[in-house]
Formats: sequence, structure tokens, C-alpha cells
Amino acid sequence: MNYNFDEIINRRGTYSLKWDGEELIKQFGLTERYDEDTIPLFTADMDLPVPQPLVDALHKTVDHRIYGYSVFPDEYFDAIQAWMQKRHDWTIEKEHIVYSPGTVHALSIAVKAFTNAEDGIMIQRPVYPPFTSVIEGNNRHVVNNALKKDDSGYYSIDFEDFEAKAQDDKTKMFILCNPHNPTGRNFNEDELKKMAAICHKHNVLIVADEIHGDLLRRGEKFVPMAKVAEHKDHIITCTAINKTFNVAGLHCTNVIISDEELRTKFSTEMGMQLASPFAIAALIAVYNEGEDWLEQLKDYVDGTMTYIKEFLAENMPEVNVAIPEGTYIMWLDFSGYGISAEEIHDRIYNKANVLLEDGSMFGEEGEFFQRICTPSPRPLIQEALERIAKEFEDISKK
Ligand SMILES: Cc1ncc(COP(=O)(O)O)c(C=O)c1O
Repeated sequence: MNYNFDEIINRRGTYSLKWDGEELIKQFGLTERYDEDTIPLFTADMDLPVPQPLVDALHKTVDHRIYGYSVFPDEYFDAIQAWMQKRHDWTIEKEHIVYSPGTVHALSIAVKAFTNAEDGIMIQRPVYPPFTSVIEGNNRHVVNNALKKDDSGYYSIDFEDFEAKAQDDKTKMFILCNPHNPTGRNFNEDELKKMAAICHKHNVLIVADEIHGDLLRRGEKFVPMAKVAEHKDHIITCTAINKTFNVAGLHCTNVIISDEELRTKFSTEMGMQLASPFAIAALIAVYNEGEDWLEQLKDYVDGTMTYIKEFLAENMPEVNVAIPEGTYIMWLDFSGYGISAEEIHDRIYNKANVLLEDGSMFGEEGEFFQRICTPSPRPLIQEALERIAKEFEDISKK
């Protein structure tokens, strides 16, 4: 079937973090202004309708009228295996799959299970802020292998620094984000093999957060690190239906751990976790029947990104942005205006009343950047951009 992603679906009054979460949003320090006129384009979920087979599967589950403790049927694991094989040419064993109610939760479990207080954990900033909180919140230290940016806004790995930090005895774990949030890098096979080899050499465990792995631009291919690394037993991979199919609220992450000892340790730290019948039905539906929807979504997101890039080139040429290889996130560099990060924030959040995410939340490398989540109906994106452009008109060279 054809989906109309231009449709604006009112999410207010549906317990949506983006649209109803004023208190929490202010508590996170994202904005001072939030009202019924705010356009929220901050957190990574979509304002777009999900695949129809998913809606049908959830209806069927609701109609049953009993929502008790649930077990994972064989179809659940079959669907995960088939998806990874078909989409990423990655063969995984059923026994290696461990359910987690969330990806950040899984990261935190891994940190607790495999490292000790005061250990170092490597990440690549600017990066998704909860990476820092799961490390520091568990009393471990961030070891930052900052990504290098060139003039076009393309990020790459500083391998010299990566190896220097990996070989430090205190560094016990590396949390990879691929595709990378917020820079959009889809690391290639060479980069992944090299990072994996360095970590293996220096006994650094890898937790690969690959939950954006299905969301790539046309022509890009996603490579799971554990598929190509020479040694796989020191890699733990987080996958999820969350980002791909816009079901963050259903809590369904699957962690792939091939090493039995690591898997037992991880599962013990987590304790018994059962999924809801809604999460189980959702996963089976989207992995078995969601491909057609995903292809349409990818075209829509690609079109929106082209629209954003062109709009900025024409109306806000000071903003530097590259179309990312992966994710539905764009990372906008406002440094060309030559004004402070506070003033950039004030013009966007308070004056234009658009809620993005300040780049500084992703690490100091993100100063002067703003992150925008693009999977919203294009008319909404258009209105947000027009409002922002108006607030920068007085200082634009345009
Ligand atoms: C890289 C990355 N990991 C994890 C998450 C959150 O996943 P979950 O809701 O399953 O904890 C996000 C959400 O934006 C993300 O971008």
C-alpha cells in the first residue's frame, strides 16, 4: 500500500514526549519556551504513521482482551534472523539473541556487567548524550575519541588517538554508535574492521549500538561490525525495531551476543525480562511485513533531507550541513553566523519557537551545532525552517 507521510497527525494528548512532555523537556534543559505553538523536532521518533501490518497486528493483540505475561515464540526469533539475513546479509544464531526493554538500558547493563567503577569507556563525540550518562551514572570515566570533521562537515575516525586510548590499561570498553548519531556517519567495512582489531588487540570489549542500521540514504549499505570483524566474541550488538519502525514506545531491543560467557553475564545482570504481547506482535509484524513501508519511508526521508539542504542553501547560506549517510538526523553547523551559541539557541527556541537539540549536549565538539530530527511531515518541517530563517534574516548575508 502507499503511505501518505505528508499527513499531519495530531500527537497532542497521546502521552507523546515530543508533543506532551513540557515538564520533562524543561527538566532536561532543552528549552525555556514550550507551548501549544512549539514545533518539536528534537527527539528521535517520527511524526509519521507506522506500517499497516503493524497496526493490524496490534489490533489483533488488543482485541484478545487479555495482556498477561508473555513468552517469545519461535516466530519472534525467526523474524529477527530473517531480517538481519535479508537486509544486512548477517547470519545470527537464535541462541545469541537477548531481549532488552530498551537500548540505553542494554548499554547500562553492559557497563555494569563488564566493567568496574573507575574504569574507562571509550565513545566518539559528538555523540548521543545517554552514552555519557550511562558511563558517568555508573561511576565510570568517559574516554573520548573525538571524531574529526573536515570543512564539508564530513566526520572521520582519528585512528591514532583511537589506538592510543584503547591501549591504555584503564580503557575496558568501547561503545560504538553506527550509524552515528548525530553526525550520520555510516562507518565502512575498513573502518569497522580496524576499530574491532584494535579493540581485540588491547582487550577492549565492544558494545555496538546499531539501532539506526536500517535507516540509510539510497545507495548506502549498512555493515554490522560483528559480521565483518575478524574476532566476533568481544562484540555485543544492540539492534532494535525502535528507530526503523517508529515504535520507541513499545520497548523492543534485541542484543546479539555470540560469546556464551558474556551472554550469561549480561543476562544475569539484566535479570529475567519478558516483553509485552504488543512488543512481540509488533516485532513479528514489522520484520516480516514492514519492508515495503521502510522503502517508502527511506524515499520520504531522503526527499526531506534534500529539501532541508536546498532550503538552507537558499535562505540560510551561513548554515553548513551535509546530507548524512545514515540516520534520519541532520547536524546543522550554525557557526557561520559568528554569534554565540546562546544567541543561536535564543533565536531558534525562544523566538522561532522550534525545539531542536543544542549540539553542546553531544559534547563540546557540538558547540554552535543544532540537531534536527527530520522524520516529520514535510509541511511541518517547512514551517519550522521558515520560522527559523525569519529569526536569522537580520544577520544573514543572503
Ligand atoms: C544511538 C541511539 N541509541 C539508543 C537510542 C535510544 O534507544 P532506546 O529507546 O531503545 O533506549 C537512541 C535514540 O535516539 C539512539 O539514537
